Amino acid sequence: MGDFQHKTVFITGAAHGQGRETALAFAKEGANIVAFDVAQQIEYPSYEFGSTAELQSLKAEITQLGGSAQIAVGDVRDDTAVTAAVTTAVETFGQIDILFNNAGICAYAEADTITDAEWDAMLDINLKGPMIVARRIIPHMKARASGVIINNSSVMGLRGGRRLSHYVASKWGLTGLTKAWAIELAPFGIRVASIHPTGVNTAMNDGLAAMEGATPMEIAERSAGNLLPVPWVEVEDVANLVLFLASDKARYVTGAQFVLDAGLLSV
Ligand SMILES: NC(=O)c1ccc[n+]([C@@H]2O[C@H](COP(=O)([O-])OP(=O)(O)OC[C@H]3O[C@@H](n4cnc5c(N)ncnc54)[C@H](O)[C@@H]3O)[C@@H](O)[C@H]2O)c1
Repeated sequence: MGDFQHKTVFITGAAHGQGRETALAFAKEGANIVAFDVAQQIEYPSYEFGSTAELQSLKAEITQLGGSAQIAVGDVRDDTAVTAAVTTAVETFGQIDILFNNAGICAYAEADTITDAEWDAMLDINLKGPMIVARRIIPHMKARASGVIINNSSVMGLRGGRRLSHYVASKWGLTGLTKAWAIELAPFGIRVASIHPTGVNTAMNDGLAAMEGATPMEIAERSAGNLLPVPWVEVEDVANLVLFLASDKARYVTGAQFVLDAGLLSV
């Protein structure tokens, strides 16, 4: 019997990276998983997105663990796709207990040459997307007077970053959403928190490095600031934090920001 037996977790950006690892960690603790991902290349940025093959292999892995998973292909910007996935999830599992708003993109752009398209894609996916997903799930949480929403922001949701104005703005926005939702949803028994990782060892990091013509290690060294002698953190570190925040061990945590930064923000 795991800690999340009979719970259902809706995870965006679940095909690979932090979303996938968190899905597996919840499944090992007995949760039903709804794995939502765009699962194809989109217009921006140019690095590798998740795929339907990855979603299918995630489902197979969870089934092998003795768990239940539903996969849903859609873009967090697409209210119709999100609504359909939420409706199917509630029909299948009866409820959604936990939302991990994790899908996001990152890219570099100069402050004076950034295009409208770059700005809009970043803000729409990283900030509007989590709002679209949450607004479809919150009514189900309210009906049961229970729920947890965890937003994957970044250290860039608590500080600035060079050539990252659109990313930084989107992630500070997500920090703000966390605060606002915590106030509004506390009376309904719904907790909200944000997590703020430093660099995480995922396809996003590799993709950003490739776009810069650098290795992931060179990028890590360029943005060096981790106090602990590690270039980045791993996806299981993120999953551990998310599971703690989603659990009853964090029952009085809401509106708070959790850094997973290897000390970066302490300087
Ligand atoms: N990798 C890092 O260094 C790092 C650090 C701090 C925070 N973050 C944040 O963590 C989250 C997850 O990042 P990751 O490192 O796992 O990235 P990743 O690129 O490895 O995985 C992201 C997943 O989200 C999916 N996705 C992207 N856009 C989507 C959309 N519009 N709709 C639905 N799905 C979409 C992708 O297909 C992919 O499967 C992001 O919000 C990111 O900003 C990343």
